[in-house]
Amino acid sequence: MTFQSHSEKYHYVNHMFARIAHRYDLMNRVMTMGRDRRWREILIEQADLPPQGRLLDLATGTGDIAFEALRQNHHLGHVVGADYTLPMMHVGQERWPAYVTKTTSPNGTDIKNRLSWSGADALHLPFPDNTFNAVANGFLMRNVIDVQTALAEQVRVCKVGGKVLILEIPRPPDTLFGNLFRLYFHNIVPIIGGFITGQRDAYTYLPASADAFLSPQELKIEMEKAGLHAVHYTMMMMNTVALHVGTK
Ligand SMILES: C[S@@+](CC[C@H](N)C(=O)[O-])C[C@H]1O[C@@H](n2cnc3c(N)ncnc32)[C@H](O)[C@@H]1O
Repeated sequence: MTFQSHSEKYHYVNHMFARIAHRYDLMNRVMTMGRDRRWREILIEQADLPPQGRLLDLATGTGDIAFEALRQNHHLGHVVGADYTLPMMHVGQERWPAYVTKTTSPNGTDIKNRLSWSGADALHLPFPDNTFNAVANGFLMRNVIDVQTALAEQVRVCKVGGKVLILEIPRPPDTLFGNLFRLYFHNIVPIIGGFITGQRDAYTYLPASADAFLSPQELKIEMEKAGLHAVHYTMMMMNTVALHVGTK
């Protein structure tokens, strides 16, 4: 899938997520055989959030990373879920009350007022400098039209000493397994995605966007260029998903 301009990609991605919002979670569970929940758990475990700390879940979508942060950290101060596709966040807002009911901390602390939602473009974040103890994003970076600007914004709103965490499907390697994964991703995922969401093009775009994205090592270098230090990454799901962590 090719775009004639940055603006075309920006609007395509926005409308595409609006079209699949109602089936996005189900498709994630099916496509990853339920493993995607574990990746988000690991991301939050590595965020080193202090008591009363603040987390930005950028490109929150339906809120899975934000919810996981509040589930793991009963003393977390506040989480902001931010995204530019409002229908994705509407699905998350509908799921949130049921999640609150089943996730009450052992000391009875109420989490319901600790999450807020913000319509925001990753390239122009509406938050002051040094606001958050950690900034996380899941499956955003392939979608942005300017990786360096998106990184610069995340670094800007993160406090000094805080973590920037990126969960993403990087470009598959040119190995036997990488090529087998490409076969699955390009040939099977669009069929399942078309069946579950009725929007096959969204799941044709998904593997194409991974192919066009950076390798894990290249993303690490971009994070260092953006001013992060101690950048490292962990590969998961047989080297198909990467979690990068850097410190401001
Ligand atoms: C694949 S979903 C990931 C949702 C969630 N983070 C998760 O782990 O399931 C990607 C999200 O990135 C959002 N997104 C893409 N480009 C964006 C941008 N420029 N600004 C804000 N959000 C963006 C989309 O609207 C979508 O909700």
